Amino acid sequence: MKIIVTGGAGFIGANFLNGLVPRCTDHVFVNVDALTYAANPASLEAIATRPNYSFARVDIRDRAAVDRLFARIEPDLVVHFAAESHVDRSIHSPQAFVETNVMGTFNLLEAFRALPDVDRRRFHHVSTDEVYGTLGADGAFVETTPYDPSSPYSASKAASDHLVRAYHRTYGLPVTISNCSNNYGPYQFPEKLIPLMILNALERKPLPVYGRGDNVRDWLYVTDHCDAIWRVIRHGRIGETYNIGGRSERRNLDVVHAVCDVVAECTGVSASTLRDLVTFVPDRPGHDHRYAIDPAKIERECGFSPAETFETGLRKTVRFYLDHEAWVRAVRTGAYRAWIDSHYAGRV
Ligand code: NAD
Ligand code: TYD
Repeated sequence: MKIIVTGGAGFIGANFLNGLVPRCTDHVFVNVDALTYAANPASLEAIATRPNYSFARVDIRDRAAVDRLFARIEPDLVVHFAAESHVDRSIHSPQAFVETNVMGTFNLLEAFRALPDVDRRRFHHVSTDEVYGTLGADGAFVETTPYDPSSPYSASKAASDHLVRAYHRTYGLPVTISNCSNNYGPYQFPEKLIPLMILNALERKPLPVYGRGDNVRDWLYVTDHCDAIWRVIRHGRIGETYNIGGRSERRNLDVVHAVCDVVAECTGVSASTLRDLVTFVPDRPGHDHRYAIDPAKIERECGFSPAETFETGLRKTVRFYLDHEAWVRAVRTGAYRAWIDSHYAGRV
């Protein structure tokens, strides 16, 4: 099977490829990524020279480039991760979110629709639970929860989900969609809550908590998300949406305290010294109060259950950031941007 993975140099895409490429040697994987600030080819070092892996630097906003790529590869499966993914960035600069998440997805769908025998192929769209908006104190998102996005990020992802679903209903394209809760784990860019807190705690910098820290997120270790996506691709029904989550709700302040405790345990610094670094900062505009996923459908239909608890996943995550100092340094200093420019110049 020929598989195009978009956004494979980002956090979740890299974990997806690192898990599957060595295991599925009868499949050929093409990682299609524009290498934005969020990408890091160093996350793919373990598979970069595998014979069933290749990389194509393509911007999904470029319709002609996407058309050419699809005509050349004729993928049996597309797994679409590529996106602008950070809510705070979407508040400051929303345009790239609309261009990549909406128009980029449109370009991929059009290129996919033009393939011969499209019925025997599959387009899997990776999305977020943030499309459903916020929850109150009770309840959880199910697949039929009405869309009610709050940020430019979640609105652009909602639009992309609608397009994917519309292409199934209108043109009969064989698609599946998954909407997952917050991920954490290796190779996450340190602008997101958990890696930011780990790295700041290691350097004794302030730990900025928005508002009062009582917003709730439902956390899933990244390789469990990847496993869930692979299960939807193999066992999910065409045209269906699957919510992915691990029944692991936590208040932000509790997450930050847990990070402090694990970093303390791994480094020998006292946990209270690290907890004292918590600094309450002005809240994010339009900040959704609570997300929680009801994963009953994917559990029932695809046999999904997460391998990691929040406690085991957090320990692995802290260890990753401690053990990959060079990766962290490169991401933080921007050295990897220079590496990308020298390695990929002229290969767009
Ligand atoms: P990320 O920001 O770490 O990586 C995104 C990748 O997409 C990067 O490699 C980037 O270079 C690439 N990309 C961005 N714009 C592109 C363009 N125009 N053309 C080609 N490539 C482009 O994101 P992530 O956290 O790995 O998220 C991956 C997907 O999963 C996204 O669609 C996101 O909405 C979804 N998701 C993320 C989470 C989470 O907690 N991180 C949860 C649920 C769903
Ligand atoms: P984030 O990792 O940005 O993911 P998302 O906005 O997609 O849920 O943020 C997770 C939660 O942590 C969210 O409620 C915002 C909060 N947060 C902070 O309190 N401080 C921070 O510095 C960041 C980045 C996030």
